[in-house]
Amino acid sequence: MASKIAVIGTGYVGLTTGACLASMGHDVVCVDVDVDKVARLNSGEIPILEDGLDRLVLEGRRSGRLSFVVGAAAAVPGREFVYLCVPTPQGDDGSADLSYIESAAREIGPHLDREAIVINKSTVPVGSTRVVERALQRGDVAVVSNPEFLREGSAVHDFLHPDRVVIGAADQAAAIRMAGLYIGLTAPIMVTDPASAETIKYASNAFLATKISFVNAVAAVCEAVGADVNDVVLGMGYDKRIGQEFLRPGPGWGGSCFPKDTIALIRIAEDAGYDFRLLKGVKDVNDEQFERVTRKVIDAVGGDISGRRIAAWGITFKARTDDTRMSPAIEIIKRLQTAGGEVMAYDPAIRAEIEGISVAEDAISACQDAEVLVILTEWDEFKWVDMEAVAEAMATRRIVDARNLLDRSSVRQLGFDYQGIGRS
Ligand SMILES: NC(=O)c1ccc[n+]([C@@H]2O[C@H](COP(=O)([O-])OP(=O)(O)OC[C@H]3O[C@@H](n4cnc5c(N)ncnc54)[C@H](O)[C@@H]3O)[C@@H](O)[C@H]2O)c1
Repeated sequence: MASKIAVIGTGYVGLTTGACLASMGHDVVCVDVDVDKVARLNSGEIPILEDGLDRLVLEGRRSGRLSFVVGAAAAVPGREFVYLCVPTPQGDDGSADLSYIESAAREIGPHLDREAIVINKSTVPVGSTRVVERALQRGDVAVVSNPEFLREGSAVHDFLHPDRVVIGAADQAAAIRMAGLYIGLTAPIMVTDPASAETIKYASNAFLATKISFVNAVAAVCEAVGADVNDVVLGMGYDKRIGQEFLRPGPGWGGSCFPKDTIALIRIAEDAGYDFRLLKGVKDVNDEQFERVTRKVIDAVGGDISGRRIAAWGITFKARTDDTRMSPAIEIIKRLQTAGGEVMAYDPAIRAEIEGISVAEDAISACQDAEVLVILTEWDEFKWVDMEAVAEAMATRRIVDARNLLDRSSVRQLGFDYQGIGRS
């Protein structure tokens, strides 16, 4: 049955949630405080790069089931369900900053219909359901936790084909009403208490970060003992208890979620009296990985990059997104700049200078006169660049492939000194 829904926040999670719920037949109004963003959405422009999102938003607007407005007060009356999809950035002490959540809840509180359900989709620590309840000041309104697990780059697919839907509610009737929104999705719907739902989200992100740090540590061992990490991972992944997913070495993890959520879980544990040493180690290994890749680039040109020209392919934190928040690529480029390197970057999703990093028009011009090329983001298109033209453009033929993306034997045949991660 179609429901009337408001979605507060039109970022990666909110816009995807709104567009997908409208595509499932619901009547959705999306709200943001960013006047410019709402104007762009109303003129048909999609402010983020996300596969399939433009089509869903267009269809939603055409059908009249999806609209965009500024200000929650106008949007919330008459809505049975209100999703909170606002940011929860890292606070000064490492814990999640709940100020956006609290202010959104305070804003909608007086305008909510009787017996509406407020659904928290932002990633929030245990106890946040109470924080929202207090800010709403509405005893008749249930607050439910519904953490989001979508991945940027495949957000629409992930929302419509989730591995699971988690609902955390103290009120069983509210949980059942909410579960009705997802009729049509073929995924297990798990109902639990709010604290468990909130912990599931943090523990899932922390576990994924752990997998990446683990494989990067294994890659370091492979380099030391002369093994090939690609083969090691393949051999490990055949074991069904391990699996192939998320076991690719790289420049380290980043993005808008893993860094802040990992630190937040360490903090949540600490506040509850548990020293999460394992997760601290996972974070340390990641910081080391940024340095290991930076070092490889510096060593590739003989130990001193001062005034040396470096080409970098990749700026976003991963492929198929335009999101650069906490990008490992930017972290490594900045370290190279600090060491004196002159970096020219290229990324298919980034068109202009960003954070003091010069951006070339295409992959080959980024390499002009460069002494080393470092590959930092795993965009597929980098595999198809004409490497002969790259060889011609560069001053010296050296590649540090922090994603193990290129076919090493073919680039070596072109005379490149090629180094990957965890393999010679
Ligand atoms: N990005 C992801 O891949 C992802 C995945 C799962 C969960 N999450 C979580 O979802 C939440 C949102 O993340 P995001 O990446 O979509 O954030 P985002 O920064 O892309 O978008 C947040 C939006 O909320 C708007 N906003 C802030 N305060 C508002 C208010 N009071 N009223 C209306 N709009 C308001 C902002 O203007 C912005 O457009 C975070 O808690 C994040 O940790 C993110």
